[in-house]
Amino acid sequence: MSTGSSDTIAQATEEDAAKTPVTNRKQPFPRGFLDTISTGWAERPESLPAPRAQAPYAAARRDKVSAAFPGKRLVIPAGSLKQRSNDTDYPFRAHSAFAHLTGWAADAEPDSVLVFAPTDAGHDVTLYFRERADRTTTEFYADATVGEFWIGPRPSLAGVAADLAVATDHLHAFVPASGDVTLEDAELAQFVSELRLVKDEFEIAEMRRAVDITAQGFDDIIRALPDAASHTRGERVVEGVFHRRAREDGNGEGYDTIAASGPHACYLHWTRNDGTVVPGDLILVDAGVEADSLYTADITRTLPVNGTFSEVQRRVYETVREAADAAFAAAKIGVPFRTVHEAAMQVIATRVAEWGVLPVTAEEALDADAGGQHRRYMVHGTSHHLGIDVHDCAQARREMYYDGILEPGMVFTIEPGLYFQIDDLTVPEELRGIGVRIEDDIVMTADGPVNLSAGIPRTADEVEAWIARVQA
Ligand code: GLY
Ligand code: MN
Ligand code: MN
Repeated sequence: MSTGSSDTIAQATEEDAAKTPVTNRKQPFPRGFLDTISTGWAERPESLPAPRAQAPYAAARRDKVSAAFPGKRLVIPAGSLKQRSNDTDYPFRAHSAFAHLTGWAADAEPDSVLVFAPTDAGHDVTLYFRERADRTTTEFYADATVGEFWIGPRPSLAGVAADLAVATDHLHAFVPASGDVTLEDAELAQFVSELRLVKDEFEIAEMRRAVDITAQGFDDIIRALPDAASHTRGERVVEGVFHRRAREDGNGEGYDTIAASGPHACYLHWTRNDGTVVPGDLILVDAGVEADSLYTADITRTLPVNGTFSEVQRRVYETVREAADAAFAAAKIGVPFRTVHEAAMQVIATRVAEWGVLPVTAEEALDADAGGQHRRYMVHGTSHHLGIDVHDCAQARREMYYDGILEPGMVFTIEPGLYFQIDDLTVPEELRGIGVRIEDDIVMTADGPVNLSAGIPRTADEVEAWIARVQA
């Protein structure tokens, strides 16, 4: 609901009646309202909070940015509300670099900017945001987008300064300058993206939190499978059940949930979720809770709707698990990130070749230039960095990402799959319409990879036992 009047700070006067836009559904404020609306409110004594747990981590990240850009004025915007339609907006979600460098996450204010002003010693950092307006202002009662009368209490400059341990100032004190370096600048965008390649201990704890809530969401889904199977849009039942968990215990989903039953599982970005959930089919669910800190899980499980894999479903499932286990075993400190994908591909190509599905041998298919025939059945990559964005570190250079070297603190997915589309004539009929993905979230430690989602059952036997236990 963008009104554009949010920066107006003025006393409520009779003139406001004239200023208030007359629309087809609003009356101007009458005098009696204007005479009384700013009075009769209790004082709001403010006790300043202690810095939030993330504050020292965000400060350390800002120090790295400062050191990398001496003498430059850097501007990191949180972003603005985005219109959905007419006077409704999408829920606000701060830019990931802004959240990372401030620690201000689900509770960040739209239009805020973090500014690094150069000094002889480095930078002075100030967070500018639209402080709540006094109750004597038109904003308070007339601005449906930011007025506290409409949207509830908003933060003060002193409160945010204490909470985030950063200097704050009014948004209207921020004046853009021609030499400002913003996230439009490729070098800055790359730097703040690569800064997230290795997570600190706060971030890893938040990843664990996100995965743990997601695990509960998957339990909820299993409990709801019988309901889903009796609904004409059972995939929506699954999506809705997960959404409830994500909103109750986190900020929401980190990305649109994929609830893909039967042949829909083969469409990698099936988010329509308007299909039936049929006993005898598999349902592939790719869903992740985003914590209030904005760190998100990214988990996929493929479940037999009736609780038991058929022989052919189990064969495909266990092949994908074999690929996932091979990828996990390949994830070692000091090896290139791409090694993980290559290990999964080795299994996928070998098995589909054994099934007689490939027109070439597995070795030929694995040839980097002339091969790739097996990729028809798994077109996506095996791994991506994960964190405050589901596809985190997206502006990192290839030599830091795909060809980068695994180090402790890196968090990424392992998510091989096999997808045999319903009308793919290259595969035997029994495989058509089967899609399987298993996706786990991994953190590298000095001792090797740790599967953050190991608590969510993975093997075919474990999955059957999980469904039986949760539905008992
Ligand atoms: N859910 C998106 C992905 O797995 O990459
Ligand atoms: Mn993923
Ligand atoms: Mn996923």
